[in-house]
Amino acid sequence: EQRKQVLSAIQPTGQMHFGNYFGAVKNWVALQEKYDCTYGVVDYHAMTMPYNPKKLRENTWELLFNLMAVGVKPESLFIQSLVPEHTELCWIFNCFTSYGQLTRMTQFKDKSAQVAETATDSFISAGLLDYPVLQAADILIYRADYVPVGKDQEQHLELTRNIAQRFNNQMGKEYFVLPEPLYTEVPKVRSTADPTRKMSKSAGEKHYIDVFGDDNRIRKQIRSAVTDTGDTPAGEMSPGVDNLFTLLKAAESMEAYESLMKDYEAGELKYVDLKDAVADALVGLSADFKARKEALKADKKEIKNQIKASSAEIRKKAQETVRAVKEMAGL
Ligand code: ADP
Ligand code: NA
Repeated sequence: EQRKQVLSAIQPTGQMHFGNYFGAVKNWVALQEKYDCTYGVVDYHAMTMPYNPKKLRENTWELLFNLMAVGVKPESLFIQSLVPEHTELCWIFNCFTSYGQLTRMTQFKDKSAQVAETATDSFISAGLLDYPVLQAADILIYRADYVPVGKDQEQHLELTRNIAQRFNNQMGKEYFVLPEPLYTEVPKVRSTADPTRKMSKSAGEKHYIDVFGDDNRIRKQIRSAVTDTGDTPAGEMSPGVDNLFTLLKAAESMEAYESLMKDYEAGELKYVDLKDAVADALVGLSADFKARKEALKADKKEIKNQIKASSAEIRKKAQETVRAVKEMAGL
């Protein structure tokens, strides 16, 4: 029996933090057991927000090494710009996409507001508006069955299905598979510096913990994690403490988790014990990943060639789709 196809992608926008790892990438590793997975490092997408070209190329390779270090198989990985058919299909799809639907995307509204707030010239590119169409091409070009999605991506997957449907209808042929969302239980990680917000790069350095960061920095960030915010109703766990337990569970330190949870329930939890356990767990994971990354980096050239080769292999399927689509579309 043929395995179902899974497609997912990640933008090369900088360091990998524990929110990215526990919330997305760890799941990518797990999905490899059951599905035929294709994972893109989507550099065309990283151009939709203000960016630095030299940094983009560095970030792309760094992310690939990071993904391999945490257990993603190199043969699943490709660099989006090495498969230029994504942009060709995107253009064709633009002509099957409702302009009105694009302007109503909540992520477009959020991100354009973010640019308006942070960039000095408040420049909002057409690429930012069109981004979900490129995403539709990313998914449909491999005729993926499943896309792992979080709440924030549901609207985009719906658009992808609309585009596929409209294309199929116009061509009078069920050519594209309508991809289904693959819901998996993933934790939401909060910023340790401000547990009222999510761990994220966009908020600045103190709001995320780098998976490949220095041990001492990881320990320091956990040691200074905000636990009591003062406004937590009596009898409820504060978001900061809840976040530390979330991290401990995500890191699969179950023995420590259960014993500390017992302390909490008995009203005897010492925050320093919880913090030590979380710091040990994260530093332990980080140490394994850093060691693997270092080993990969020792063969940097070889590994880069491997990724170029897997991109070329994955490209064949994309080329096949685009050839068929052009034929149907009268091109
Ligand atoms: P960032 O917020 O650092 O820019 P992205 O938005 O690029 O991260 O997210 C990359 C992936 O990591 C997405 O799949 C996203 O859902 C996941 N992710 C990001 N932050 C978190 C978080 N705090 N908790 C759980 N998952 C997260
Ligand atoms: Na973000």
